Amino acid sequence: MTLPAPEVPKETQFDLLSRYRSVRAETEQLATPLSAEDMQIQSMADASPTKWHLAHTTWFYETFILRELNPQYRVFDPRYHEIFNSYYHSLGQPFSRPLRGLLSRPSIDEIYAYRAYVDRAISTVLQGGGEERRLNNLVLLGLNHEQQHQELLLTDIKHALSINPLLPAYINNADAGSGENGQKVEALEWIAVNGGIFNIGASAGGDQANEGDNFCFDNETPSHPLLVQDFRIASRLVTNGEFLEFIEDGGYRQHRLWLSDGWSWVNTHSVQHPHYWRRVDGSWQQFTLCGLQPLAYAEPVCHLNFYEADAFATWAGFRLPTEFEWEVAACQLCTPDDLAAANLLEKRHWHPAASHQQRQLLGDVWEWTSSAYQPYPGFRASGDAVGEYNGKFMCNQKVLRGGSCVTPSSHIRSSYRNFFYPHQFWQFTGIRLAGDAL
Ligand code: AVJ
Ligand code: FE
Repeated sequence: MTLPAPEVPKETQFDLLSRYRSVRAETEQLATPLSAEDMQIQSMADASPTKWHLAHTTWFYETFILRELNPQYRVFDPRYHEIFNSYYHSLGQPFSRPLRGLLSRPSIDEIYAYRAYVDRAISTVLQGGGEERRLNNLVLLGLNHEQQHQELLLTDIKHALSINPLLPAYINNADAGSGENGQKVEALEWIAVNGGIFNIGASAGGDQANEGDNFCFDNETPSHPLLVQDFRIASRLVTNGEFLEFIEDGGYRQHRLWLSDGWSWVNTHSVQHPHYWRRVDGSWQQFTLCGLQPLAYAEPVCHLNFYEADAFATWAGFRLPTEFEWEVAACQLCTPDDLAAANLLEKRHWHPAASHQQRQLLGDVWEWTSSAYQPYPGFRASGDAVGEYNGKFMCNQKVLRGGSCVTPSSHIRSSYRNFFYPHQFWQFTGIRLAGDAL
């Protein structure tokens, strides 16, 4: 199912080269507040250095487009093939992920030269024009890949900066994460949604690049009919204030609220509050991309893992939505205006924001669903290296929906499936409650 889209005249709909240039420029823009030292560090195995994101996104076009489609193409440096390969075993043994922060060479200057070199080659290929459907689709994949890494670059540097007792800000934004605590919280309403048979997923258009950008990832396909029961969904996200009530009610100490794996996680790590929260002189503060800020009660709670999201829902007497309920609700409730108003990366707010008569289905935080990240009926990953992109991760992960405050707006849609392991918290992840029909 898809969201209603604003009407755009055909000629202005899509220009791949300018889209390429703007996505590439945005990545570099996101790196500008960072020093060379910031860009080098890797604070945990799940995160990557900024430098590595800048290079790996470039490697993707070089590997899957330039080398594949043009035998004349000369790679920038053949040694990069191993170190900037993330996980494509069809292409050889990738360099160890937890050791990416130890790659002091190539230097940042060399990585920017690598970016410029590949940009020139891609521009030449795209200016060559023609109706190269396969080329266009791979460039679109590369751009969507790079947008995923824009979000990761920000969540990874947030984690790295949070380790430093100086608690440096990535950037300053006076209103991010510093909403006064008097801020009014909109009443939570329950929206009843009628069940039925719905078409779930995106239809993979053959001519994606030529028909305007109706790109989707393979994991959103095949689109298929699915029976969804009547359900209720919350009109907004769960707030910090509500999560604080859970904590004050002993939520982290009541085993009955937790899934077994979640309870083990709580006890192994002695968890008492969301990861970026801390108590300073008797009041709650929260580390944000804009440094340490007073915890704003009206803002959506973020950086929860799946276990925390599930335990909160149990405590509240509700449950998480399935990914299908989420998609049905988004398609029925979101208007084109919601997409324009949503707190996504272009807003440069850098943090979830309190709801102002908005459903918050798009942006702010990724919403944990109860659904396992599984292939849709009939899904088959392609047999080539690109086929390793999504399909092989369909085991033991949960689906998240809706995008966050650091997701580019051209990257999110109602059928979009993000996925993380249940213990992972470092993305902007939060909670929307759901329930069975009354
Ligand atoms: C969809 C965010 C889980 O982080 O590995 C980046 C995105 N895929 N490069 C990930 C991705 C290939 C992916 N997530
Ligand atoms: Fe990647």
